[in-house]
Amino acid sequence: MRTHYCGQLRQQHLGETVTLYGWVDRRRDHGGVIFLDLRDRTGIVQIVSDPQRTPEFYHLAEKLRNEYVVQITGRVSQRPEDSLNPKLPTGEIEIYADQIELLNTVRKQLPFQVSTAETEQVREELRLKYRYLDLRRERMMKNLQLRHEVIKAIRRFLEDQQGFIEVETPVLTRSTPEGARDYLVPSRVNPGEWFALPQSPQLFKQLLMVSGLDRYYQIARCFRDEDLRADRQPEFTQLDMEMSFMSMEEILQLNEELVAHIFKSVKGVEIPRPFPRLTYAEAMDRYGSDKPDTRFGLELVDVSDVVKDIGFKVFSGAVAAGGIVKILPIPEGNAAISNVRIKPGGDLFNEAASAGAKGLAYIRVRDDGEIDTIGAIKDNLSEEQKQEILKRTGAQAGHLLLFGAGPVDMVNKTLDRLRQVIGRELNLIDPEKINLLWVTDFPMFEWNADEKRLEALHHPFTAPKPEDIDDLKTAKAQAYDLVLNGYEIGGGSRRIYQREVQERVFETIGLSSEEAYNKFGFLLDAFEYGTPPHGGIAYGVDRLVMLLAGEESIRDVIAFPKTQQARCLLTSAPAGVDAKQLKELQVASTYKPKA
Ligand code: AMO
Repeated sequence: MRTHYCGQLRQQHLGETVTLYGWVDRRRDHGGVIFLDLRDRTGIVQIVSDPQRTPEFYHLAEKLRNEYVVQITGRVSQRPEDSLNPKLPTGEIEIYADQIELLNTVRKQLPFQVSTAETEQVREELRLKYRYLDLRRERMMKNLQLRHEVIKAIRRFLEDQQGFIEVETPVLTRSTPEGARDYLVPSRVNPGEWFALPQSPQLFKQLLMVSGLDRYYQIARCFRDEDLRADRQPEFTQLDMEMSFMSMEEILQLNEELVAHIFKSVKGVEIPRPFPRLTYAEAMDRYGSDKPDTRFGLELVDVSDVVKDIGFKVFSGAVAAGGIVKILPIPEGNAAISNVRIKPGGDLFNEAASAGAKGLAYIRVRDDGEIDTIGAIKDNLSEEQKQEILKRTGAQAGHLLLFGAGPVDMVNKTLDRLRQVIGRELNLIDPEKINLLWVTDFPMFEWNADEKRLEALHHPFTAPKPEDIDDLKTAKAQAYDLVLNGYEIGGGSRRIYQREVQERVFETIGLSSEEAYNKFGFLLDAFEYGTPPHGGIAYGVDRLVMLLAGEESIRDVIAFPKTQQARCLLTSAPAGVDAKQLKELQVASTYKPKA
């Protein structure tokens, strides 16, 4: 019988005889004795096998190899002074093995070294293919444990302190629009018809409010067929919440308590409340992003009004066409950023170009206060305009000012990217900082240029601000996003709960009443049976855990994630299926592999 986990043993256990199970992390032969690092999910402890004391087990220890599975019984002893290991929590003790039992061996060559002592970088494809081995490694094991702690803290707070009830909602359902493509599942018993996997439990949680559940939450799996990035997976986990009869202020306050509770429980840090807030307009204006990383400055400055009439057409033309001219001011930028990098072919130029910019105009403030810039700017700026730009940007000797000019979206996207790259490069970001921020007052709709129609910025169930109800097209929404160090970790809103308003929103996004009824009739009908005012939020659990773990990809906090190509390398999913299965489903693929 196991008496302890490896990583838990300390000096207080000296003299005790313990039985441990685990994997051989490493074996070292040292002048007649063998040292084994024994590993389980809690960590590592050193085992010593001495041929004088237990010759029989010494010979077995000689045969052990990395990742063999063993049971070991022995006494906890003090390590000699010269072999203490302060890096290991168990580094003051070791266990003299009185008994070793080999439970299983490794019969194939390990695809990579699992050992905690190994720091080699293993290719991610290999890690994902042998994920069960990858998860044995300390970093991954810690991440999974942290994830568990986060979810536990969430449940404790919501259930025990706030009276939330967890309700499971269907995975086989109808489309729940959150702006991505649906994953579809054909129905065998209803041929020609399809379930959609939920992009979120949005509609069900609203219906639960109609039912009077009052405070709902769920750790919910969501499915979105969209282009993947480091912070996006095709299936991911939300902490999904909905509550009735609460104002936006009450909802935000409860959520601040929740987030503070999570940080306190898993990190031991106090998060000051209330969290700062920015309106969407202000976030876009100052940072060019609706999820700004506010751990560093480099705030953008709009100079459209200063340059709107100048002879340099790149600037004045942009403003005339309804666009803007903005500056990213970089203190000490002259020393750090050469012209080569901002001219065509340079890395910062390429970064800007990938956001749609055609060029990167600049001004450098020299040490004598004069400016260096491209001729077209120099020749077309009056002394007064130049001084106004320097004043607004707070530019001093050494400053580099990078310009973005053109359509509003493009300029913001360009300068946001440059701001992030340069902030990182200049070490302006304190990795210890935890900046939580609400972004509020989003517009209800944004223009979808491809489809030539308005589109809900959050989702079409978000309520407009009461004062904007008469003109929905330009209305602001009762919506809020929670941003942590530049990542959107959550988003929600108060909802529409009156049928007429919901119908007007569907109309605004171009859904005819017939289409709307066809898709969402069940919701519209439900609104007629006494629906309480309600609102909610959903957090991206993977993203939150990623940030708490200090990882850069959500793949590192998900046990079995998919690749950027939406594949599972471990199981080789997705895969073809038997012709018989397709026939039963009455489904045929039109895909033709390229010759
Ligand atoms: P939203 O679409 O903003 O809102 O999603 C909520 C949060 O889920 C996370 N998230 C993702 N995480 C990983 N991979 C993805 N592909 C992915 N997509 C989203 C983000 C995001 O903030 N029903 C609404 C919530 C509501 O209104 O209550 C919703 O799903 O962290």
